Amino acid sequence: MHDRFLRACRREPTDVTPVWFMRQAGRYMPEYRALRAKHSFLELCQTPELAVAITLQPVTAFAVDAAILFADILLVLEPMGAPFEFVAGEGPVVHQPIASHADVERLRVCDPEEGLPWVLETVRLVRRELDGKTPLIGFAGAPFTVASYLIEGGKSSSYQKTKALMWQQPDTWALLMEKMTEVLRRYLRAQVAAGAQAIQLFDSWIGALSLEDYQRSVQPHVSVILQDLMELGVPVIHFGTNTSHLLEAQCEAGGTVIGVDWRVDLLAAWDRIGSDRAIQGNLDPLLLCGPPALAVGRTTALLDRVAGRAGHIFNVGHGLVPSTPVDTVKAVVDAVHEHRTG
Ligand code: CP3
Repeated sequence: MHDRFLRACRREPTDVTPVWFMRQAGRYMPEYRALRAKHSFLELCQTPELAVAITLQPVTAFAVDAAILFADILLVLEPMGAPFEFVAGEGPVVHQPIASHADVERLRVCDPEEGLPWVLETVRLVRRELDGKTPLIGFAGAPFTVASYLIEGGKSSSYQKTKALMWQQPDTWALLMEKMTEVLRRYLRAQVAAGAQAIQLFDSWIGALSLEDYQRSVQPHVSVILQDLMELGVPVIHFGTNTSHLLEAQCEAGGTVIGVDWRVDLLAAWDRIGSDRAIQGNLDPLLLCGPPALAVGRTTALLDRVAGRAGHIFNVGHGLVPSTPVDTVKAVVDAVHEHRTG
């Protein structure tokens, strides 16, 4: 059993630092593009044999220390009654964004085995394929991040509608957060029951909120999910970007591992997070698009500073982008695995 990723989540010593990448499966890989040429992204997610093959692509190509389920944080929207599509060049588009209390009342608190059976089947099949050699991470988006797509109708840079709803219709916001929380809690529990050995909760856009708004309007909800999963005994990675002002509050909400982006200094962040948590991060993903020697140099420099302290999982600070050269990904993984401290 190749378990250095799970050991690091528990802050146990490992032979070398474990490494995996957010968005490690995707358009930068020729193997992915070959399948994507024949199927839409949603078809890939909804066909377990294809989703399994894509989940395994980066494990085979780079020998990363964890596999992450091939799926998307927005998949829960459809069974909740809010269909969406990925429009080329535009990103996700939700056809009927949420605006009123009645809109939120209509959302279904769906059962994952009914609403997303193909995701759970993918989890079961990936576990069988990996046969204990590499651990599998399941995931979902966190209530705020998923709700932002539901309210804005797609991606946003200002979160203007999301904040307006949060401030102007607090009862509607609370009902929306409660419904999202219950859907996501059940969905993640079902992924664990199907075989996911760790969970990452993506609160990717949470940095848009002030500390006060996070604590008032989001933290109590996200904490329900995190605490519930931690009770199951699986490691839970609590990830966000632009979170320098929120780190302590995120820790208070929960997480075995806190995922940070490149804007914070990893060691300074770890001091604030505390020695009872593991940390994941935090190379700027765009470094992998530059000179390979620079990406490798920054990788080595980060590992030198961490100096083998137990509980570090090497990752990028946000997802790999489609223009990332495959050879640089391989070079960074090898540099992490070849790195020795002292
Ligand atoms: O990490 C992995 O390899 C696992 C798969 C994964 C995907 N999306 C695959 C994907 C994961 C973990 C996600 C999470 C996700 N999805 C997040 C949180 C992480 C983050 O980036 O902050 C968010 C915000 C989304 C929503 C989403 N899905 C967006 C904004 C897009 C881009 C749309 C576009 O047109 O570029 C997606 C699509 C998506 N999700 C792709 C992949 C491989 C590209 C789909 C394609 O092939 O066209």
